[in-house]
This record gives sequence, structure tokens and C-alpha cells, in this order.
Amino acid sequence: MPGAGPPSDCGGVLPVLVALAADPGPLRHRLSVAGSSFALRALRADDEPALTSFLAGLSTTSRRFWHGDTEPAVEAAGLIEAIGRYDKLRLVAHREGRPDRLDALVDLSFSLPEDSELARYAGYGIPLDPECTVRFGPCVADAWHGSGLAAALLPPTWSAARLLDRDRVVLYGGVHADNHRARRFYYRAGFIEAGTFDNGTAVDMYRDLP
Ligand SMILES: CC(C)(COP(=O)(O)OP(=O)(O)OC[C@H]1O[C@@H](n2cnc3c(N)ncnc32)[C@H](O)[C@@H]1OP(=O)(O)O)[C@@H](O)C(=O)NCCC(=O)NCCS
Repeated sequence: MPGAGPPSDCGGVLPVLVALAADPGPLRHRLSVAGSSFALRALRADDEPALTSFLAGLSTTSRRFWHGDTEPAVEAAGLIEAIGRYDKLRLVAHREGRPDRLDALVDLSFSLPEDSELARYAGYGIPLDPECTVRFGPCVADAWHGSGLAAALLPPTWSAARLLDRDRVVLYGGVHADNHRARRFYYRAGFIEAGTFDNGTAVDMYRDLP
């Protein structure tokens, strides 16, 4: 997500996000991946230590492609502080019974700042409806790359987007052109290229939900 902003950039608070922060039950799913059972659920305030470890444990490459190099404890505190506020929803996955060790995090943003995706997609001739579009950025712990965990996150993530009446998903800040693994993953998941930006170093991709 090359152009993704800080955790608290945003439009207004969406009532559904406030309600989901109070009762995140509808976001909870069980996933079975590579012989392991995972829980997927909303990020919680008590996840801060596990979130800090997750961020600190990412490889330099993963950090470069996702969220950059903010200090992990500072970033984790910011993500926790944003729960139920602003426009963001974060989902986390961990093995059943191991909430102390996060294995994946999905960023969803339900606002479209005028000067980012909204303007870029308009430039490609693909106007976005801010009420129906969600921005999406996944990150899986390096140890689980190639396991199918990332793919397993998608159906419940799309369900979460549907809870907020979104039927179009755009990559949050696009994808680095040289993030070949992620681009392959997005193609497999039905995303198509909308265009490039930042002198061709970043690619916008989107997909519509059934
Ligand atoms: C982008 C990212 C989420 C994609 O994850 P991934 O590990 O490639 O995706 P999957 O877990 O679905 O694994 C897919 C690969 O595993 C293989 N695989 C093995 N078992 C599989 C299974 N049961 N189901 C699906 N794929 C499986 C696939 O064939 C595929 O191989 P390939 O990439 O050589 O074609 C992950 O690379 C990541 O978090 N990267 C760091 C952060 C980042 O770049 N985020 C994106 C910012 S835009």
C-alpha cells in the first residue's frame, strides 16, 4: 500500500463501525488453513502487545510493502486508538487459543479522501462511489506466506465489507509495482488493474463483490 495514510486520516465515524466496536460478534469467523484452525475477528484494545510483536516480526520487505517503517509500538498504539473511531476497521487472524500471537492483519477503510483513490480512479475513467467502496490492505506474517492463509481471509473480509453495504473493493494506496507476490495474489482473487501512479511505481487494482 504505497500511498496509504496514517491510521487516523479519515472522514466521519460510521455508526456501523461504532456498533461493531461494541459488538464485534458478526465479524468473527473460524478458518481452517494448512491443517491449522484460525480465528478471524476484529482488532481489540487488549491486542496491543500482540500487535506490536506482529509488526516488529514482519520482514523488511513486508514492512516496505505495507505500512512502512513506523516504530511498531507507536503504530500498534495508533491502530488500537482508532478502534470504533474514524473510518477504519481492522481484522486480525490468529491460531485458535493463541490471541497473544497474531498471524495476519487486514486494513479496511470506509472513506475515500478526495486526493487519493477517488482522484486516481476518476483519472482512469472509473468513477468510485464513496458510499459503496471500501479500501483494503492485507498483511500476513512472513511465516504464513504461501500457506493459503491470505486467500482464506478474503471471504470473511468481503462479508465485513458487505455489512457496511460496500460492493467495490480497491487496494488501499494501491500496490507497489515490484510487489509481485501481492499482485499475483490480487489477480488470483479477482482484482483487475485500474491504472498506475507515482510514475508507474504503484498500481491501482480493484474488484467488485458479488
Ligand atoms: C500479499 C500477501 C497477503 C499475499 O499472501 P500470499 O502468501 O502470497 O498468499 P497465499 O497465502 O494465498 O499464498 C499464495 C501462494 O501459496 C500457494 N498456496 C499453497 N497452498 C495454498 C492454499 N491452500 N490456498 C491458496 N494458495 C496456496 C499458492 O499457489 C500461491 O503460490 P504463488 O504465490 O507461488 O503463486 C502476503 O504476501 C503479504 O502479506 N505480504 C506482505 C505485505 C503486503 O505486501 N501486503 C500487500 C500490500 S498492497
